[in-house]
Amino acid sequence: MIVREDGGSYTRSVEEREIADLPDGDVIIRVHYSSLNYKDALSATGHRGVTKQYPHTPGVDAAGEVVSSRLPDLKPGDPVTVTDYDLGMNTPGGWGEAISVPAGWVVPLPDGLTMRESMAIGTAGLTSALSVLEITRSGITPDRGDILVTGATGGVGSFAVAILAQAGFGVVAATGKPVARPYLMDLGASEVIDRQNIDPHPDRPMNKGRYAGVVDTVGGDILAGAMKSVLPGGAVTCCGLVASPDLKTTVYPFILRGIRLIGVDCAECPVETRRILWEKLAGEWKIDMGEEMVREVALTGLENEIEGMLAGKSKGRVVVGHGSVTRG
Ligand SMILES: NC(=O)c1ccc[n+]([C@@H]2O[C@H](COP(=O)([O-])OP(=O)(O)OC[C@H]3O[C@@H](n4cnc5c(N)ncnc54)[C@H](OP(=O)(O)O)[C@@H]3O)[C@@H](O)[C@H]2O)c1
Repeated sequence: MIVREDGGSYTRSVEEREIADLPDGDVIIRVHYSSLNYKDALSATGHRGVTKQYPHTPGVDAAGEVVSSRLPDLKPGDPVTVTDYDLGMNTPGGWGEAISVPAGWVVPLPDGLTMRESMAIGTAGLTSALSVLEITRSGITPDRGDILVTGATGGVGSFAVAILAQAGFGVVAATGKPVARPYLMDLGASEVIDRQNIDPHPDRPMNKGRYAGVVDTVGGDILAGAMKSVLPGGAVTCCGLVASPDLKTTVYPFILRGIRLIGVDCAECPVETRRILWEKLAGEWKIDMGEEMVREVALTGLENEIEGMLAGKSKGRVVVGHGSVTRG
């Protein structure tokens, strides 16, 4: 898929290209599956904060097989994944049937996951897993209290709910979609709340302590409001800006309750941490990704999905299947 700028607006089309059009890289991968992340929706619609130059092929996630490699430990036919770094931002990404990338970006497909499952997880799942890892590394255990997840029906939020439940936590899922209650309960939420009720007293600097931790995926007033209800010593992770990139808060949650606010950046997450996350996602944190959570589209089916995602309507994960590759 090529995104082109055309007089200030951006068009998307599926075109035929040559491997020689790709940048020089250590490893060329035939991509079987990619996915749709919020960052991809921004790149596909001309958001210069994500992609500086067009024409461009988005897709921050890719799973496929090695075609050629400059490294002896990556051999033709090896199944691998690449997520984040610059893939799909300013390097042609997984919405193409081939990518060419530096060796350091490539992770062998973990045992216990298919390529499709790895892309159902993708950057969103890795970000959720990294958020949960940060919460647990802060010493938060299930007996300390519930964890609040914001943007709960989104790609990152859905995985966070499911992983936390799998890890034994009570999970309060905050959503703007009342009809998604059964979906969130199925994922493992113990309670579902309307996101309007995250901060019951917007006029007060603090609320009664309620959560041992928060996995926030939306930012803005929702993150600020959630921080007011965190129990002493609690931990809050922050990874997204769907609600707003602004954060207007006070120092009270930090100085009265000693809470920690932890930034999560999956894009530059070191490869060693990535391997730990993939191992957990293929093992103790492996979750049942039913049809309600994951749906597959072809490149030609992405238009509606991009539009829905930017309108805040997305639910679960979208896997992009390169049918001509995966189905011969
Ligand atoms: N830092 C990193 O490494 C990293 C990695 C991946 C993603 N991200 C970021 O994480 C965020 C979520 O990504 P995603 O892939 O999960 O996106 P997504 O699938 O579009 O989910 C976002 C969810 O946020 C909620 N939401 C939408 N608009 C909102 C609004 N105006 N106010 C409050 N909530 C709103 C919705 O859930 P409900 O209706 O259930 O509330 C929506 O489903 C994005 O900002 C993305 O860029 C960061």
